Amino acid sequence: MMPFLDRPLHHPKIVVKDTVQQLAQHVAGIFAEAITDNPSIVLGLATGQSPVGTYQELVDWHRRRGLDFSRVTSFNLDEYVGLAADHPQSFRYFMQQQLFDPTNIDPDRTHVPDGTHDDLSEHARQYERAIERAGGIDLQLLGIGTNGHIGFNEPGSPPESRTRVISLSEQTIAANAPYFPSIHQVPRRAITMGIGTILEARQIVMIALGSNKAAAVAEAVAGPVSPSCPASCLRTHANVTVVLDHEAAAGL
Ligand code: GLP
Repeated sequence: MMPFLDRPLHHPKIVVKDTVQQLAQHVAGIFAEAITDNPSIVLGLATGQSPVGTYQELVDWHRRRGLDFSRVTSFNLDEYVGLAADHPQSFRYFMQQQLFDPTNIDPDRTHVPDGTHDDLSEHARQYERAIERAGGIDLQLLGIGTNGHIGFNEPGSPPESRTRVISLSEQTIAANAPYFPSIHQVPRRAITMGIGTILEARQIVMIALGSNKAAAVAEAVAGPVSPSCPASCLRTHANVTVVLDHEAAAGL
């Protein structure tokens, strides 16, 4: 791939929706159409609050309209280090609840990094190889952190970074603390696809909801393209759609 600084810049397509449900329906529509067009599609998936409505809509597509996930392959962005698949705050658990269990996706085709692996660096390399073997990611779903992170690529992450173990910033730990009994229980490390990994997806859809994302969205879409806002690196990709509610779009 061309060195990061030499890459041409693009304007992401921006879609602003009036309600969270309309936003979820829009994003689910993009995914449902892509799965219908290519039943063996490779999806990149995200966790967090932002995609919850989208997953509900996709489950609805499966139940009511027979959307078939049986040949879909998925790779999740990230996982906390130290949380097992059955831990309610693990991203594997989240995915099982939100999308995998309620659809007919083949469990063997779902991939979430294993935060309990005893050799995480080797596991990260295997994860990259598995994405490659699957033919690369066709369609990647993303949220955005309040500090502009994508996956768990915190500000300063190299644009060419690959799947690896990272230390979470204090801001990210604080943002995720409400989901844990106390801030002290939030893992301090995670395993995440790199920015370079994410940018190799053929198509990217990023969701942001709420006023606490407005500054990060404005920086990502209209600020300088810089590792200090990892989401700004998406502007080196020619096929990115950013789907927002009015609150998250307020800074544009
Ligand atoms: C987490 C995840 C990201 C997610 C972000 C925003 O830290 N690692 O993948 O996009 O936070 O989460 P939310 O959608 O809950 O605001």
